[in-house]
Amino acid sequence: MNLPKKIGVLTSGGDAPGMNAAIRAVVRACAYHDLESVGVYRGFQGLLEGDFNPLDARSVKNIINRGGTFLKSARSEEFRTVEGRKKAFRNLKNENIDALVVIGGDGTFAGASIFANEFNFPIVGLPGTIDNDINGTDYTIGYDTALNTVVEAIDKIRDTANSHNRLFLVEVMGRDAGDIALNAGIGAGAEEILIPEQNMGRERLLESLSRSKISGKTSSIVVVSEGDQIGKNIFGLAEFIEENLKEYEVRVTVLGHIQRGGAPSCYDRVLASRLGVGAIDALLRGETNVMIGIVHNKVTSVPFSEATKGSNEIDAELIRVADIISI
Ligand code: F6P
Repeated sequence: MNLPKKIGVLTSGGDAPGMNAAIRAVVRACAYHDLESVGVYRGFQGLLEGDFNPLDARSVKNIINRGGTFLKSARSEEFRTVEGRKKAFRNLKNENIDALVVIGGDGTFAGASIFANEFNFPIVGLPGTIDNDINGTDYTIGYDTALNTVVEAIDKIRDTANSHNRLFLVEVMGRDAGDIALNAGIGAGAEEILIPEQNMGRERLLESLSRSKISGKTSSIVVVSEGDQIGKNIFGLAEFIEENLKEYEVRVTVLGHIQRGGAPSCYDRVLASRLGVGAIDALLRGETNVMIGIVHNKVTSVPFSEATKGSNEIDAELIRVADIISI
């Protein structure tokens, strides 16, 4: 078995806080094992363009605390074509790069898996997305930071909600998954949480909001996941509530990309560091086509074929807790 000697690292898909910490861990683990490391800029697009830069332990100093990804990220249409991937392979060979660590979401792993199989090229993935929607890992890099950002923002919104007796609809990210909405909703004390995995329906929302008023609540926070059925048009939802429940004055806040930025939380820094070291360990064990994740607080590896978008199962216990504490 030929173990890799020069390893490329790239970030792809949406950026997530902790990606820099993961790159740092990969590069330093390479240095620890006397392997060379190379940064690939702008994800798979950088592979196609040969946009490489050698990295060493010192080139990743002072980045553990920085959000975003210093290697930058991009979506590459050309990498979807065989011709594009051939070009990428030639560039890697010319540079003597003999393995890759890719940091991103399920789309990143799908592309990486095709490439790894086509060219018999060792690739290991790390889950980096705020959505926490990847099977085979309990947590993705960036999720914890995003949760904290959302809770902090809702705490601020609550001040106005409370001072003006208003209902706020707060839209949070999570294209297909309600993890951010559900957990941040509980953490921020939301009255209702709308998630894509569970279609609550507008009528039930009205009933619940009426009950809240009757129970003596003067202000309310409803967290709406961007992927939720009725959250698709959050401004329309606000109008619908105002038309049907005249007692409510409704405002909308769309948190948007502030959820993707900022210094990573301690949890994300530690997770990224463990997974980055785990990626190089896996390559040195001869593993390929796998994602390194965390399951029951243990670093594990699962085949890319299983590291797909998370199942739409909802955590019934969390929903129950949310229901009970919002009474
Ligand atoms: O997948 C991460 C994510 O932030 C989703 O939560 C969101 O729907 C999407 O990316 C936004 O993507 P973009 O930055 O391309 O608009």
